[in-house]
Amino acid sequence: MLTRSVRTFPLLVLLLMPAPAIAAEVTFSRDVAPILNQHCVRCHRPGEIGPMSLAAYREARPWARSIQRAVTSRSMPPWFAERSVGEWANDPSLSEEEISTIVAWVDGGARAGDPASMPEPPGFTEGWQLGEPDYVIELPTVTVPADGPDLFLNQVVTLDIPERRWIRAVEFRPGAPRVNHHQLAFKADFRGMVEDGVPLAPREALRGSGSVDGRGYFNVLAMWGAGTAPTEFPEGAGRWVEPGDAVVMNQHYHPSGEEQIDQTLIGLHFGQGEMHSEIQAVIAGEMDFLIPAGAANHRVAYRHEIARDSMVVSYLPHMHLRGKRMSYTAHYADGDTELLLDVPEYDFNWQLFYYPEKPKLLPAGTIIEIVAHYDNSAANPNNPDPTRDVGFGLQSTDEMMFGFFELVEVNSEDEREGRIRRGPTAVTPSARE
Ligand code: HEC
Repeated sequence: MLTRSVRTFPLLVLLLMPAPAIAAEVTFSRDVAPILNQHCVRCHRPGEIGPMSLAAYREARPWARSIQRAVTSRSMPPWFAERSVGEWANDPSLSEEEISTIVAWVDGGARAGDPASMPEPPGFTEGWQLGEPDYVIELPTVTVPADGPDLFLNQVVTLDIPERRWIRAVEFRPGAPRVNHHQLAFKADFRGMVEDGVPLAPREALRGSGSVDGRGYFNVLAMWGAGTAPTEFPEGAGRWVEPGDAVVMNQHYHPSGEEQIDQTLIGLHFGQGEMHSEIQAVIAGEMDFLIPAGAANHRVAYRHEIARDSMVVSYLPHMHLRGKRMSYTAHYADGDTELLLDVPEYDFNWQLFYYPEKPKLLPAGTIIEIVAHYDNSAANPNNPDPTRDVGFGLQSTDEMMFGFFELVEVNSEDEREGRIRRGPTAVTPSARE
């Protein structure tokens, strides 16, 4: 009898309380601010790429409904990998519990709560996130007009270093993040590039080559896109740079309605001592394809064979405005296949790296198959011209099909055992403090 009344008591209390009172207990200061600080404020604060600040109650309150929509649809924070495939070191997604807290807060009237329970504002490192770099590449300034078509530039800077060094980390500092769409840095060697016996200057070599390989070498160094953290290679791994190497920057700007002047800085951090494995960037992709006008789900596939036992440390799918979906599948020599990454709703506006929680071991002979799908129909709201057949090209109105990935060759038992690790990649407030 006694046990029974004890059990029913809490239920009675619940039944007697008006339902909204339960929802209304969720407050901004105690429940919601910690979630926003952890997952949103790094972009949604003054001077960053988010269109509004979510750091304070009075800033977030007017956005309550759109915040609810953004988190329930999982359109924010930006992340496009299918959740059931792989585990990712830099996945910023909210948990189901965090989403229901935000929903309950909005449905309960988006109340402020007790200011005394507001968490400490997150500490953000201003300036260089990885500390003062060893070498800073200063790119020429670019004026981005208020409106008009997107700008695509290839700028070349020669490295002025006295000796061969290895890079362990790269940090981009875009001068005008609101108009910087993405930047891709290639390391290039134009020394072998001659025409009629005359060495070509980097700019001419670049113009002449037109593609990403040829007589010199052309290697991905690092990539920046809205929302990406600085690149830190796994411990002991990096990329060599030689005196006289050039860095070629492929930059994409998107006018914002206001003229902006950008000067991007690239900070290089050199490794000390021995570099034990070189990071290789693989630009796997097809350049020979044609997407027919109006095609809603056009498939393009490309296969790349892994030459030596390697660990994959990152993936970066790259298509343009008609890009719809991209996946990476491993076909192992023993006949097994494994889906490594699936991005079912690709969004050109977000060039994201996907860093596996544990680097993926791929034995020599494994084929990585990259499959892209494109929507060239009028139903794709981003499609600049559904009446045109589209092939490969540099403009965003043309298409690309690249499944970039980075790998290190496995040359020790440690690496094979998976003890090689990527440095901290997701820049969250807690990681920065
Ligand atoms: C990596 C940076 C980044 C992170 C992290 C981020 N946002 Fe955003 N957010 C943006 C940018 C940029 C936009 C505008 C472009 C767009 O909508 O894609 C945006 C747009 C929004 C919008 C739509 C605003 C409108 O105009 O309708 C909402 C709401 C929003 N974010 C909420 C959030 C919430 C809530 C979080 C955390 C759970 C979050 N965002 C995390 C960068 C970010």
